[in-house]
Amino acid sequence: MTVVDWDDSFSVGNAEIDADHQRIIALLNELHDACAAAAPQAIVLRLFATLDDAIGAHFRREEEILAENGYAEVEAQRVEHRLLRDSFATLRQHLPASDRPAAAERVRDFLLGWFMSHVLDEDMQFRSVFRPGIATS
Ligand SMILES: [Fe+2]
Repeated sequence: MTVVDWDDSFSVGNAEIDADHQRIIALLNELHDACAAAAPQAIVLRLFATLDDAIGAHFRREEEILAENGYAEVEAQRVEHRLLRDSFATLRQHLPASDRPAAAERVRDFLLGWFMSHVLDEDMQFRSVFRPGIATS
């Protein structure tokens, strides 16, 4: 079962960034399935680590591509990226022992909410860099 599906309207017009976003969607769907199946904590924690790696790699790539393309707001992106990774790290560290399934679901919901705003709001701001003539949303 998927909690979010890739849609062409998510495309920012750069193949590498779109591929990263698709990879993160696949991992979020895996996390959703793990939560729905009340998977063992070790599996959920491994998925969190995989997601953190994928998100970190994505942010580095996105910042590099934006800097190469002269995007003026790259520093603001860096700040947003750092804040997200800090929040995710804090959530992961505070998974309460007595409330693991619900805590895992809260982390899933946090990541889902972040991802949708990251792609549909923040990243759409630089779509015009790759697709001249297309208005940002
Ligand atoms: Fe992104």
